[in-house]
Amino acid sequence: MFEPPREPHHRRAAVEMRLIALIRHSVGHGESASRLCTTQKRWVGERKSSFGVPTLQWRGPPQVCELSSRPAPPMKPSMIPDAKRAVRQYWDAAPSGSSLTNAEPGSKAFFDEIEASRYRLEPFIPKFAEFERWRNKRVLEIGVGLGTDFVRFARGGANLSGIDLTEAAIDLVRRRLALENLDANLRVADAEALPFADESFDLVYSWGVLHHTPDTERAIGEIWRVLRPGGETRVMLYSRRSWVALGAWARYALLRGRPWRSFGSVLAAHMESVGTKAYTQPELEEMFSRFSSVSFTRFVTPYDRRVSGSLARVTGPRFGWFVGTSAQRPH
Ligand SMILES: C[S@@+](CC[C@H](N)C(=O)[O-])C[C@H]1O[C@@H](n2cnc3c(N)ncnc32)[C@H](O)[C@@H]1O
Repeated sequence: MFEPPREPHHRRAAVEMRLIALIRHSVGHGESASRLCTTQKRWVGERKSSFGVPTLQWRGPPQVCELSSRPAPPMKPSMIPDAKRAVRQYWDAAPSGSSLTNAEPGSKAFFDEIEASRYRLEPFIPKFAEFERWRNKRVLEIGVGLGTDFVRFARGGANLSGIDLTEAAIDLVRRRLALENLDANLRVADAEALPFADESFDLVYSWGVLHHTPDTERAIGEIWRVLRPGGETRVMLYSRRSWVALGAWARYALLRGRPWRSFGSVLAAHMESVGTKAYTQPELEEMFSRFSSVSFTRFVTPYDRRVSGSLARVTGPRFGWFVGTSAQRPH
């Protein structure tokens, strides 16, 4: 398995992440051993995180679900290290993008409204993913979330597999596929230990996921492993030299009288799930150094424009929060 050497800042961030997870755990934010029942959660309405990134708010206490039969058994919570458990708990309670609609979770209106809003806010996704290009190709999406990109691959005729760390996401995407009479292989699994044989896929796609997992380099090593030689990967990660990262630092370091705090430690503590990372260009190049035909595309997001105002028009895409990497496993 490919595991590139870690830079010192990665080690520091990992230690910080574990400490934060431990503290959160000890003050009562740890995950219960029971799985949450998404069907009994109630949607409350739109809520924005501190950075304007849409997040979900549910009403009422989570309910314990009866286990039902599934193609693949869920991972046992006891097998998940603390840092990853905190990530899983966060996304289980707040599937990404759900705040874009007030419709009943799992309904057709719910998915339709999320889809329309997603591509209005992030219109660059279809060009990056090229959903229609993968007909009859073996495609894996890592971190399907609510499955908006995933169904686009399915509609395009890909031979499709998808994983997510949370049961909530996988349940909702199963429902979404059923609504459209589409078929795909979906399972709860960890990006750092993909449950697929070597060289199984023509494309591995992941949008906004791998910066949340504790060992991102390991996950990229897994992408390499499951790609066939000549296969492609398209991965979006957060960029540290970005307006969003600057805004977070201004808010949580500068304005709190702690300007010595690094962008990395602010993002790990305050950006979505605990331990979120963002990368510089040299770090990205290092992480994908084993691949060929590597190219990086930066995307300025509405979340950047909230920080930069009209300045982003002058600076162009270079300080965008999202960076898409396209790369190939050499033949
Ligand atoms: C910001 S959401 C993105 C979801 C989707 N790709 C999208 O663009 O809407 C991050 C997702 O990554 C998943 N995730 C985080 N760590 C993961 C891991 N180690 N393995 C698989 N999925 C993971 C979370 O459960 C969550 O659904």
